Amino acid sequence: MKLLTRPRRLRKNQGIRDLVAESHLSHNDLIYPMFCHYDNEAKEEISSMPARYRLGKVPLLKEIKKLQDQGLKAVCLFPLVEEKKKDSFGSYSYSSKNYYLDIIKEIKDRYPEMVVMTDVALDPYSTDGHDGIVDEKTGKILNDETLEVLAKMSLAQAKAGADIIGPSDMMDARIKFIRYALEQEQFHDILIMSYAAKYSSHFYGPFRDALSSAPKSGDKKTYQMDFRNSKEALKEAVIDKNEGADILMVKPGIAYLDILNLMSRNLSLPISVYQVSGEYSMIKAAGEKGWIDEKEVMLESLYAFKRAGASMILSYFTPEVLDLLN
Ligand code: PBG
Repeated sequence: MKLLTRPRRLRKNQGIRDLVAESHLSHNDLIYPMFCHYDNEAKEEISSMPARYRLGKVPLLKEIKKLQDQGLKAVCLFPLVEEKKKDSFGSYSYSSKNYYLDIIKEIKDRYPEMVVMTDVALDPYSTDGHDGIVDEKTGKILNDETLEVLAKMSLAQAKAGADIIGPSDMMDARIKFIRYALEQEQFHDILIMSYAAKYSSHFYGPFRDALSSAPKSGDKKTYQMDFRNSKEALKEAVIDKNEGADILMVKPGIAYLDILNLMSRNLSLPISVYQVSGEYSMIKAAGEKGWIDEKEVMLESLYAFKRAGASMILSYFTPEVLDLLN
């Protein structure tokens, strides 16, 4: 047969395939989400996230140093909070005694090059396990009252030395509120990575185990987005951009590649994607059972994010990826 076009020519060998590859993955793309523990020496494995730990300050700093030596540029930190420190307003989040702020400060003191991203939401600090303040009588999540707490929390994190503030709460107008608070206090160069398109998702299960932060009643559907929709992702993203966000996130990842692609095509800001806890645990579990090749499926999912338009990826697989890249 005489064929003019044979698409297989471009797949002929590894060298050719590498030359024509459209997506690339490197240590510059990765942000590693880590769980902090209030006990300085703690190292507790998370039962629903094999090989991932809640780390006290000492092992956490050690781990960060190790990963930095392997090329890691950025971490995103989440706090485990003692039950007795929780209340309905999440007030420990901005207390000067909050151990999480101390960890941020220490990382920036010791490893100033490491980019530190934070989490802004009430849930790890709240007796209700919701991202906002819950109205006692109606059970509703109070939007405008919550904004005050989010702003205080963001300022406390900025003072501790955080580079990127990460509001994951999905309250309306939070980016504007936080941005004004930061500008007011002369924090002109603190970035905000807004969880712009954050869906109400059951893929967050293991994360809520890790931080004992599951809602005590109800669900998060009045603030996190409905997974049947994509238009509101664009709406939220445009609002957050106009309110002063620097980077916009899509979350979860693999089931939301259409949203990621939509946002990266339509917005002029860098787009990040969060491969969440449930995605990590599913790949890990199937890998442990020998049903899939864990490393290959991990890489395939990360390349899918790059192909769909992600500028950066938050992934619990970061240490494994760094190992492979090195
Ligand atoms: C809390 C928060 C959640 C995640 C990141 N920040 C959980 C939630 O919204 O219930 C989930 C991350 C993951 O599953 O890895 N605001």
